[in-house]
Amino acid sequence: MTTVPTAWRSVLPHLGEQLPADLTPPHTAGPVTATLPLELVRQSISHREFWPIPEPVAERYRAHRPTPLWRARRFEAEIGARVPIYVKYEGGNISGSHKWNTALAQAYYYHRAGFRELVTGTGAGQWGSALAAACAAFGMACTVFMVGGSLRDKPYRGSLMRLFDAQLHASPSPLTAVGRAAADRPGQGNSLAVAIGEAVEYARADPKRAFCIGSGETYSILHQSVIGLESIDQLAALGADVDAVVGCVGAGSNFGGLALPFFAAARAGERALPADLIAAESSTTPKLTRGVYAYDHTDATGTGPLEAMYTVGSGFAIPSSHSAGLRFHGAAKLLSAMRYRDHISALAVGEREALTAGRTFALTELVLPAPESGHALAVAARVAAGRESGHPARHGVLVCVSGHGLLDLAAYDKLLAGSPEDRPADTDLVRAATASLRAVHPTRGA
Ligand SMILES: Cc1ncc(COP(=O)(O)O)c(C=O)c1O
Repeated sequence: MTTVPTAWRSVLPHLGEQLPADLTPPHTAGPVTATLPLELVRQSISHREFWPIPEPVAERYRAHRPTPLWRARRFEAEIGARVPIYVKYEGGNISGSHKWNTALAQAYYYHRAGFRELVTGTGAGQWGSALAAACAAFGMACTVFMVGGSLRDKPYRGSLMRLFDAQLHASPSPLTAVGRAAADRPGQGNSLAVAIGEAVEYARADPKRAFCIGSGETYSILHQSVIGLESIDQLAALGADVDAVVGCVGAGSNFGGLALPFFAAARAGERALPADLIAAESSTTPKLTRGVYAYDHTDATGTGPLEAMYTVGSGFAIPSSHSAGLRFHGAAKLLSAMRYRDHISALAVGEREALTAGRTFALTELVLPAPESGHALAVAARVAAGRESGHPARHGVLVCVSGHGLLDLAAYDKLLAGSPEDRPADTDLVRAATASLRAVHPTRGA
């Protein structure tokens, strides 16, 4: 029987190099990093491999973990798979997605460090919901800036956050200078980078508040490693193995949590079968497939440090889509470094293909995936059916359904009406948004 992991597993000791340091010119160093609890700092830089999960977090994990993993035979038959497809499902907790795994851990560490309120920006609302519930679990206040367009599409995400007593603001909001400035700039109003910028500004106004973030940070990816660790055990329990692992990427914690334990296990000599680790991203924000590897801000204010990331530019006006959780301009520093070394690969998917894969999955496996997860399912289907010549899976494909789509029915309504719109990022606009960024490794083209 698979049990819940008692320790998170870090991939850092297996990389053989340090991640590129952030650039912090004087005007960019600020209290955002100053409020980061020491344990989260350690988890981001230390080369310790196993991190015991604190009991108050582990106890909450046990309420819904291990999460289900099953072979999706009906989905396989429908999409013409040549190899088995195994699904790992993270939608069964109160937030409805994997975000809960790190929200709990972060709330625990910030609470222990003496903070009374956590402040954040959220795109799809899954992260905001997860943090609202995690703050409530540890008796903390929570303030969330949610991308306004996304909140209009998914009002019940807001209801869920309010249910847990969170203060919710549609971004851009009049509450912050960042929000007021963004409201005047066409195209910027629907950006997670703006919502994050607002949260940063709001958190800085009170020392009892801390800004915290859901997914791009190395410690978030560490917390998500429970997904991959369980999957490895569950596949073994089924007597199965896979040579392709697929997860969708917003900033990268879901994919990293699923895939990097496979990398660590292979490097540690625990797995014979090498796995092709494939990040499924949205064609609206194709940082890993069409972005540049450069130093960029994680938010739109330009006040945080510059991180080494694959990016389409923090100033890029991201086309709208229902997969709001994937509409982030950059990939996590850790994933970006691994992409640069070809330890992971990436494929981009349009909204129509993602929602179609999501609907096919619902009809066959009777679980409605979030549109974000539909991207991973679309890539898994391509690979399992032999439609991606660069990714020949011979044994099996593991795919993570990162969340449920029960609050995303407006997107599926659009699919039924035949009107989802694919809005791939415009090449010239990406070029313009990245032109002035400093390349991480100037010699190998960013
Ligand atoms: C359901 C779902 N899947 C995937 C993602 C992207 O996750 P990450 O930012 O960890 O890459 C999100 C982000 O909001 C999400 O809500």
